[in-house]
Amino acid sequence: MSKTHVKMTVNGKAVEALAEPRTLLIHFLREELDLTGPHIGCDTSHCGACTVDIDGKSVKSCTVFVGQVEGADVTTIEGIAQPDGTLHAVQEAFRQHHGLQCGFCTPGMITRAWRLLQENPNPTEEEIRFGISGNLCRCTGYQNIVKAIQAAAEELSVKEAAE
Ligand code: FES
Ligand code: FES
Repeated sequence: MSKTHVKMTVNGKAVEALAEPRTLLIHFLREELDLTGPHIGCDTSHCGACTVDIDGKSVKSCTVFVGQVEGADVTTIEGIAQPDGTLHAVQEAFRQHHGLQCGFCTPGMITRAWRLLQENPNPTEEEIRFGISGNLCRCTGYQNIVKAIQAAAEELSVKEAAE
């Protein structure tokens, strides 16, 4: 199959590549860019393990062709910590509140929570649960994920108040 030329920014770096038009973004990220944090948990767009951020929106990267993100700004879990390795408040809160077990849903879950807290910096429990309803987890029962997101929201608002 003939390849198309794709150009985008991924985790702040310019990326240019040739890819078959049928290539799903999740495969491009994992196989071409070695960004293997985003995972594949289904083939029906339900699980959200493949969630990345595209131009300020949470997107299931298994449901996007690479050509559709031409020129876009993409963030994956690998781009969420500070360049010096300091974890983002959401990552730290998942650790502290035991919001992960096997870790397979976690890259998608954190990338979604990161965007959710930008959409709604002070969500209620119900808003958190609804806000992550596109992300399935087999291990945690969600409770600690909700706690982690609540803790991250508090941490981020304290930080913002201090600035
Ligand atoms: S892999 Fe399940 S929604 Fe993308
Ligand atoms: S931690 Fe295992 S699927 Fe969520």
